[in-house]
Amino acid sequence: MAVYDSDAGLLAHGLFSQVEIHAEYGGVVPEIASRDHVRKLLPLINQCLDEAGLDRSAIDAVAYTAGPGLIGALLVGTAIGRSIAFALERPAIAVHHMEGHLLAPMLETEPPSFPFVALLVSGGHTLLVEVRGIGEYRILGETLDDAAGEAFDKTAKLLGLGYPGGPVLAKLAETGDAERFAFPRPMTNRPGLDFSFSGLKTHTRNLWMNTEHDATSQADIAAGFQLAVVDTLAIKCRRAMQQTRANQLVVAGGVGANIALRKALQQDGRKHGWDVAFPRLEFCTDNGAMIAFAGCQRLMAGQSSGLELQSFARWPLDQLSPLEQTGP
Ligand code: KG4
Ligand code: ZN
Repeated sequence: MAVYDSDAGLLAHGLFSQVEIHAEYGGVVPEIASRDHVRKLLPLINQCLDEAGLDRSAIDAVAYTAGPGLIGALLVGTAIGRSIAFALERPAIAVHHMEGHLLAPMLETEPPSFPFVALLVSGGHTLLVEVRGIGEYRILGETLDDAAGEAFDKTAKLLGLGYPGGPVLAKLAETGDAERFAFPRPMTNRPGLDFSFSGLKTHTRNLWMNTEHDATSQADIAAGFQLAVVDTLAIKCRRAMQQTRANQLVVAGGVGANIALRKALQQDGRKHGWDVAFPRLEFCTDNGAMIAFAGCQRLMAGQSSGLELQSFARWPLDQLSPLEQTGP
């Protein structure tokens, strides 16, 4: 949840993490997620309005995530967001979750400017996108199987590291020797910008099965795996930057919080003369601020959504409309 003002910027934001609830099951349980959204959303909205010192009547529009993702959770946000807008007689804006991630670096004090190449790495997506403006997205590459975050999560589970896998594995990797075991860099020896992480996952599983299950091996495998993912993402980013002749790279999504990835891409940026922009760590992973920001941009361009309650489990990013083409 977040309150965003087009002039003053972010006035308040709040997050209720479901990590503890899902940890018991080792992953997100969709029905539990939806039910918990029902319980937590309205109190969180009130909390953020209090923090911003605003009454509901001060809201000019309500933006909500309409997709893509788990349909039950999306429906809760859609129903509540759309209903509040209806009750306040204000416009509602259906926001694309990945557009939210993509624009998150613009919440920072030195925002990137268009055009740029975006690497979007989350639990559900791995995308390289050429961005000419808001809503002007050309997909350069995507994963053919697991998303980068999913690969982190599954590997962490395999190593017995618990949930959520990405941050736990990344922490352990800091103490490991990334060079002890060899890991593949999938799909980097052929042209193109697509990704595939399932082979790396299988490689890691076989390695773990054939290695002593001690703390050192666990850390060394975590470090080798992380380096393989980081290298693979960095190789594809270099390729995308060269192909598009862009000079700005934007990195967002949960895996964008990975320190090793941030360091590697920043180093590449310095070497090749590219600007590399990230959101602050808390706005890499899912948050309301990025959705409020994306909604505000579309609202200011005169866009809003109809009265129907519609959520989309699948919603290709390149189907979004550019801002210029829609009038009030
Ligand atoms: O963007 P996000 O919060 O939710 C989705 O839209 O999926 O991304 C969550 C993903 C999870 O797979 C999580 O393990 C991963 O991002 N993640 C990380 C780190 N922090 C979160 N992966 C690697 N290193 C991290 N520090
Ligand atoms: Zn996300």
